[in-house]
Amino acid sequence: MRDILLVIHILLGISWVGGIMFIGWGVFPATLSSMSLGNQRKFLIKLMDWTHLLFTLIGSFVIYTGILLGTIFGPIRSFDVLFHTRYGNIWLTALIIGVFALLWGVFVGYRGMMRVFKDDFIWKEAENGNKKPLIRGLIGLTIMESIEVIGFVILVVLMVLF
Ligand code: HEM
Repeated sequence: MRDILLVIHILLGISWVGGIMFIGWGVFPATLSSMSLGNQRKFLIKLMDWTHLLFTLIGSFVIYTGILLGTIFGPIRSFDVLFHTRYGNIWLTALIIGVFALLWGVFVGYRGMMRVFKDDFIWKEAENGNKKPLIRGLIGLTIMESIEVIGFVILVVLMVLF
């Protein structure tokens, strides 16, 4: 049973991290270099609407299965184990960073993207030849998303440390 849960946890974890990175490094640049501005905007809003819920669900299940693996199916049965063992400390750190990355994605990343994609001024200016506000917006989004990616990198390191 624990092994099945671990397989599910790992598959979900890969999908969460890999999916978000694929969109950021693959779909975004491809869209921005191959579509007209109007289509880019429409496509990116649709893409975010669709993937936002999906990745929020996947991320929640990664955390949920991680909690089960550490507690019901793992050694963490008391606060003593949680705070005074190496396993407990790694798990608690992973839990905090996992929840942080998920909330960051929902409340900062997604909202920030929608703010840029739905900002009429930025896109009208870009259509009229002034791409500066759009580029500034996209750079802001990249920096914002890097915070989530740093969280993922720390999580993967913690998983190896278990
Ligand atoms: C980016 C998201 C995550 C990925 C890619 C990921 C991946 C993995 C991998 C590959 C393992 C197997 C490690 C091994 O057997 O040495 C694992 C185990 C585990 N993960 Fe995660 N994980 C993620 C997030 C989390 C979070 C947020 C938690 C805590 C709530 C967590 C808790 C655990 C636990 C308890 C185990 C079992 C460790 C053991 O007893 O050997 N994981 N995870």
